[in-house]
Amino acid sequence: MTNTAARPDAKAGSLDPADIPVFRLFIAGEWVDSISGETFESRNPADSRDVIGRFQQGTAADVAQAARAAETAGLLWRRTPAPKRGEILYRFGQLMADHKERLARAMTREMGKVLAEARGDVQEGIDIAFLMAGEGRRMFGDTTPSELPDKWAMSVREPIGIAGIITPWNFPIAIPCWKMMPALVTGNTVVFKPASDTPHCATLLVELMAEAGFPPGTVNLVTGAGAEVGDAIVESPDIQVISFTGHTGTGKGIAEKAARRLKRVSLELGGKNGIVVMADADLDLATDGILWSAFGTTGQRCTACSRVIVERAAVEPLLERLERRTRGLRLGDGLEPATDVGPLINEAAREKVEDYIGVGGREGELVSGGRRPSDPDLEHGYFFEPTIFAGVKPMDRIAQEEIFGPVLSIIPVSDYPAAVTALNQTRYGLSSSIYTRDANTAFRAMRDFETGIVYVNAGTIGAETHLPFGGTKATGNGHREAGHAALDTYTEWKSIYVDFSGRLQRAQIDNQSSS
Ligand code: UN1
Repeated sequence: MTNTAARPDAKAGSLDPADIPVFRLFIAGEWVDSISGETFESRNPADSRDVIGRFQQGTAADVAQAARAAETAGLLWRRTPAPKRGEILYRFGQLMADHKERLARAMTREMGKVLAEARGDVQEGIDIAFLMAGEGRRMFGDTTPSELPDKWAMSVREPIGIAGIITPWNFPIAIPCWKMMPALVTGNTVVFKPASDTPHCATLLVELMAEAGFPPGTVNLVTGAGAEVGDAIVESPDIQVISFTGHTGTGKGIAEKAARRLKRVSLELGGKNGIVVMADADLDLATDGILWSAFGTTGQRCTACSRVIVERAAVEPLLERLERRTRGLRLGDGLEPATDVGPLINEAAREKVEDYIGVGGREGELVSGGRRPSDPDLEHGYFFEPTIFAGVKPMDRIAQEEIFGPVLSIIPVSDYPAAVTALNQTRYGLSSSIYTRDANTAFRAMRDFETGIVYVNAGTIGAETHLPFGGTKATGNGHREAGHAALDTYTEWKSIYVDFSGRLQRAQIDNQSSS
């Protein structure tokens, strides 16, 4: 059975219900209906009248079938030479590049980020595909001397088995690629469950994976609810490693369940990322970085900046710049070239942001935004004005809790030591940044900031795929994605000793001179 053709050109509100395309699961190389016989809709957050398609409401039984397919495919895939696996990743990366514009437009339509950012998201997928394709010819282990004569010692990476990949909607191409590319090149097979808000992006991605030549069953797509499909992946006795990006609460639940089954789990969770602005900073440069980090992707990035910690002397001139520039930001459909800030993902997300506007009003001073836009053209989308609160204290709720929306807190501090304390006073530890012209202060920050990623004179977003990505504290559980660090999530180390002495040689005993 083939999958329903995507219809990225359908206009808002123009579809007769009978015309709404229905998409399928991808199991063992076939596009199939869910056993549930039920579907759910994906709609455009910039105009909720625009229905993108209907997607299968997957079940635990679908996951079990996908896992069986992955297990069977794994027998051959793990024996396929890694450079050959890498060649398929190269083809997939090239296909994504060929289809970049189509994927980016579909992404903007399905989750709202402006087109330039959607192109960046696809590019991040291409970058990791090419990087991991190269790992097919690297994937280095160690060769190392043995402590005994005539004995050889080395370590090699082995695939774990089946990887359960559970991904969020905010980077609907990049993040699935961050996870699936290292899993596949190292010889694992995959059961992939995308966020319920972005099943179309996931479907387009898997269509290209099939076209690239991943053998049937190496990649299986099961759409549906987290509570059903996600849970079935985590509880599956056949899926041995889980990679999840999303809410901290969900991640903790996954870790608890997986621990009972001794599964490996890589978690990429929340952030409350701060930018420190010293009085000696280039304030125009800092303003550019803060706006991009706070309001890019409508604040819906794990790496988004939601706290700006400012040395007192710079507060007034920085706030003046931020307010003026924020007022100039244009809300709208991300497909419109003039749009700076797209919608939030859904109504629940907008209501959460509104709750925090109430909290922020009690804790700080609202200096910009704080409401839904009044423009009637935007009434069918989940838009919210970019918002700034001034005079916030480090431990205030809006400075501590992840809002995942366009809400920025300005926190005045007296000096660098106070800035470091405020920056590190959060349960999360993903990304941070400092703006300063003083090289000594910059180096202190690189040492003192307790986050997995530190930027100097740049915002908190913009991680590149060949460096490790991830955070400390409640941001995760110690794993890193991207870079060669990603290989650690999806491989077991095997240490191999070859004794060519022709006699029994006892390590730790026969090589000791005394006794
Ligand atoms: C995320 O928000 O989960 O550095 C990922 C960045 C992007 C990745 C963000 N390259 O913001």
